[in-house]
Amino acid sequence: MSEFPAENSFELKSFCKINWNLYVLGKRDDGFHELCTIFQTVSLCDKITFAENETLSLSCNDENIPADESNLIIKAAQLLQENFGVSKGAKISLEKNIPSPGGLGGGSSNAAIALLGLAKLWNLKIEFSDLLNFAKSLGSDVPFFLYGGTAFGSGRGTKIFPIEQIKEKFILIVTPNVSVSTANAFKKLNATYLTKSESKSILQIRRNEAFEFDLRHSSLKNDFESSVFEFAPEIKRVKETLLKSGATKAMLSGSGASVFGLFDTEETRQTTQKALEVETDWRSFAVATVSRDKYREALKEVLQFASE
Ligand code: C5P
Repeated sequence: MSEFPAENSFELKSFCKINWNLYVLGKRDDGFHELCTIFQTVSLCDKITFAENETLSLSCNDENIPADESNLIIKAAQLLQENFGVSKGAKISLEKNIPSPGGLGGGSSNAAIALLGLAKLWNLKIEFSDLLNFAKSLGSDVPFFLYGGTAFGSGRGTKIFPIEQIKEKFILIVTPNVSVSTANAFKKLNATYLTKSESKSILQIRRNEAFEFDLRHSSLKNDFESSVFEFAPEIKRVKETLLKSGATKAMLSGSGASVFGLFDTEETRQTTQKALEVETDWRSFAVATVSRDKYREALKEVLQFASE
């Protein structure tokens, strides 16, 4: 079924992320965990089309993705409608390419892009600080997607500081057919409660590290790896396979199930991707980093609504 693009419709890319590192510092009184991470947008993306409409509707090419009120795109739309008294609707279609769930922030990216796209469609003037608060209320990874590129994240993951941009051309993301619930992954960590002073000093150390982070010489660390590998050994096998096949480094992204590997050349990446075809339950994606400048360029028609 092909449709004519509606008048005044536009399409936006919704990129995914990996984490160069991820430290869970401890549990907080509100039940969330205090963390430090370096986020990175990469080139794998969904596409979201927005068109004027009387009612609010969402369709998706992937029937496994709920297109109802549980979808963060609809939640983002409702949040803007309520806060700005918008009576118009929107016809939104989502082309899903990012594995979900997968530890790649696909749903969070969609939510951020929905906020930006609908601000344009409905001609809303939103202060960046308000946009950040809306993003935060939709999920811990959503604010990062208002920045993109390489950025340090702390707090619940919602305090974002852009840092020096990391450029990496030959990344392979591999997602096995295992579903990891982020909430469960945090529970399994069994993190202890943090005192305020502990939290402050660890944060300072991690922040300094982030500002000096250098992919070639810094080690990659994700605190979810040991517990996630224990309850899902298939994910551990992905990491081992990537390292055996010539990846110089490999690590779990977010709480998984995706693992990314770094390669020195296009050839070694291609050979590995080809060799992984025997694993029929694994999906693989050859990607490169997307810098903050490239991210802003790709989203320039809507990021003007999100200037700091
Ligand atoms: O914020 P988001 O909805 O993405 O988080 C999903 C779940 O992951 C939360 O309900 C919470 O259980 C857990 N979480 C956490 N600490 C964070 C982020 C998420 O405990 N910093």
